Amino acid sequence: MLEQRLITEELMDDPALPADQYHALLGDLARVNRVTMAYRPTLAFLDRAMQGRDILRLLDVGFGQGDMLRQIARWAEKRGIRAELVGVDLNPRSADAAGAATPAGLPISYRTGDYADLHGQGWDVILSSLVAHHMSHEELVLFLRFMEAEARAGWFVNDLHRHGFAFMGFPLLATLARWHPIVRADGRTSIARSYRPGEWPALLAEAEIDGAEVQRVFPFRLCVSRVR
Ligand SMILES: C[S@@+](CC[C@H](N)C(=O)[O-])C[C@H]1O[C@@H](n2cnc3c(N)ncnc32)[C@H](O)[C@@H]1O
Repeated sequence: MLEQRLITEELMDDPALPADQYHALLGDLARVNRVTMAYRPTLAFLDRAMQGRDILRLLDVGFGQGDMLRQIARWAEKRGIRAELVGVDLNPRSADAAGAATPAGLPISYRTGDYADLHGQGWDVILSSLVAHHMSHEELVLFLRFMEAEARAGWFVNDLHRHGFAFMGFPLLATLARWHPIVRADGRTSIARSYRPGEWPALLAEAEIDGAEVQRVFPFRLCVSRVR
């Protein structure tokens, strides 16, 4: 079981899902991120990538409810970093959900579309969370090449680790926490679609990237970083 990545779609990507259900499940996904301490590795990466820099133009690909960008806005404010934070998401309903959850005054803008259309826009950092496993192998290699070419200070992939214990345990956690049934189902699918540490070197080699670091982060996250 889980020897190979599961190739399937997730319920949340169904364009027919009513907007109120989509908003509710993004809210619960943000709760999953908080409970599983998912912001920590991304913020630790930013600490490394931003050493000696005080201006940050950042792209978050697949921002969902925008919770990572709100964390980054607070991180930057505490450090006196002048931040311009842009999120892009393919799903047109994400921008509404994220906008509604974002207090006025944060330096965040949400766009609808494909990250691949945002080249040549002077990014310092490009990152994503829970997005790599949504891509096919070919799409992920193109995404890695895009980040390597476009991110001046570095890039970061925060994703899940395809691990049997997480696969078995997540439905229990989701039931206890009373998360949305789609989050419960998609969480398990996401774990089965995600990568193992030993699969990343071949992906990086195919994308012709040297110097990236693959890191397991508790609990069951697998992160890949490149700092210049
Ligand atoms: C599971 S959600 C992750 C949301 C959020 N980052 C989080 O951690 O909760 C994955 C998101 O990636 C978006 N996505 C997938 N491929 C994309 C692409 N090529 N460009 C922009 N967004 C993309 C999807 O629309 C979806 O909203």
